Amino acid sequence: MLKDTPILLGLTGGIAIYKSAELTRLLRREGAEVYCVMTRNSRRFVQPLLFEALSQNRVALDEGEVAHPFDHIRLSEKARVFVVAPATANLLGKLASGVADNLLTTMLTYALGRRAPILLAPAMNANMYKSPAVQENLRRLKKWGIHLVGPASGELACGDEGPGRMSEPEEILDRIKGLVHGLDLAGRKILVTAGPTREPLDPIRVLSNRSSGKMGYELARVAARRGARVTLVSGPTQLAAPPGINLVRIETAEELKKKTEELYPQTNVLIMAAAVADFRPRRFHSQKQKKTEMKSADNLLELSSTPDILKEISKYPRRGRVLIGFAAESENTIPNAKAKLQAKNLDLIVANDVSRPESGFEVSTNQVCLISADEKIEELPLLPKEEVAEKILDRVVKILETRRRPKP
Ligand code: C5P
Repeated sequence: MLKDTPILLGLTGGIAIYKSAELTRLLRREGAEVYCVMTRNSRRFVQPLLFEALSQNRVALDEGEVAHPFDHIRLSEKARVFVVAPATANLLGKLASGVADNLLTTMLTYALGRRAPILLAPAMNANMYKSPAVQENLRRLKKWGIHLVGPASGELACGDEGPGRMSEPEEILDRIKGLVHGLDLAGRKILVTAGPTREPLDPIRVLSNRSSGKMGYELARVAARRGARVTLVSGPTQLAAPPGINLVRIETAEELKKKTEELYPQTNVLIMAAAVADFRPRRFHSQKQKKTEMKSADNLLELSSTPDILKEISKYPRRGRVLIGFAAESENTIPNAKAKLQAKNLDLIVANDVSRPESGFEVSTNQVCLISADEKIEELPLLPKEEVAEKILDRVVKILETRRRPKP
C-alpha cells in the first residue's frame, strides 16, 4: 500500500514514543521507507538503535552527534509525508513560532516552507494540552495546513485522565495513507452499511448470517481517510469502529431500513455492504420457546420477507447520489449480480463468489468483480479488503466526477 514511499518520522521526548516503535513497524510492513529523526530529549526515553533496527535506516540525530553528517534537505525533499509522533507541547510551540534550533525543527520548518504534507500526533498531559499556548499553537499550525491526528482522551501515562493520549499507531498509519493517496473524497458524505442483520425468533434465538462486517468497515475506514464524512450503520460485529467516523448500531433489517432512510437524504453516496437478512421469523415470541412445549419444530420457523432496502431507496429522488450494492453469490455470480444491478437501479455492484474459501465472508481478503451501470465488468484479483475498498472508492470518485456536485 505504501510500497517504496519515503516517510519521515520525527520523534520527540514524550513517553508515547513507545507507540512510535509500533508505528515504524507498521509502516515497514506496508512497504514504506522510513527515515527517523530523533531529538535529544527523545533519546532520553529510547536509544536510536531501536528505530534503526525497526526502520532499517540510519537514524538522523542532531548535528555534531553523528559520525556521518546528515543531508537533511535532501531527505526533507524526498519524504511524501513528514510525521511527528509523538509531538510534544515543546515541538508544537517551536514549530508554531518558527524556531529551528535542532535538526528536527529545522527539517520541519523547511518542509513547511515547501508545503510538504506534515502530520503531527500531539501527546502530552491533559492540562498541558488544554493550555492556551498549546491550543493557540495548534490553531496556528492547522491554519498553515498542517494535519493533526488526535490526541485521544483517556488514561494518561502520568495517571491523569483527559485529552492528550497520542493516537494509536493504526490510526496514525491510516492518516498517513490518506495523505499519500490524497483527499479525493473531501467534503463528500458517505453512508456505509455493514455486517449481518439479526432477526429474533424469541429472546434467545436469532436468524442471522456469516457476514463479519469487514468489507463495510474497511470501506468506512478508507473513505474517512480519503476525506469523506462517513456514517457507518452496522449490524452486530466483533469489529472496532474505525477512527473518525460516526458509527450507528442496528440489529434487524427493519432497523437498518429506518436508519438508512433517515440518513439517505443527507448523503452523497450510499454503499450497501450489509448482508441484510432476506427473511425473518414471521412471529417474535416474547418468551423462550421450550422444546418440551413444542409439538414439532416444523412450524416453529415460519418466515416472512424483510424489506429490500436498496430497492426501496433506489425509488427516492436521486439528485446525483451514487448507489452501490453488493451481491454475494454462490453460483452464477455475474448474471445474478447484473440482475440486481438493474433491479435496484445501481451505479455499481460489487459481485463476489462466496463459495471460494479466500473470498467473501469472515476472511480478510476478497476477490470481486465490479459491474458498472452499463454492465462493464472489471475483475479484480484476490486482494486484502482494504485494497478492494480503495478500488471501489476510486470508482465512486470517478462516478462523482461525471455528475454535477450532488446536493446533500
Ligand atoms: O438481493 P440481494 O440481497 O442479494 O442484494 C444484495 C444487495 O442488496 C446488498 O447491497 C445488500 O446490502 C442489499 N440488500 C438490501 N435489502 C435487503 C437485502 C439486501 O438493501 N433486504
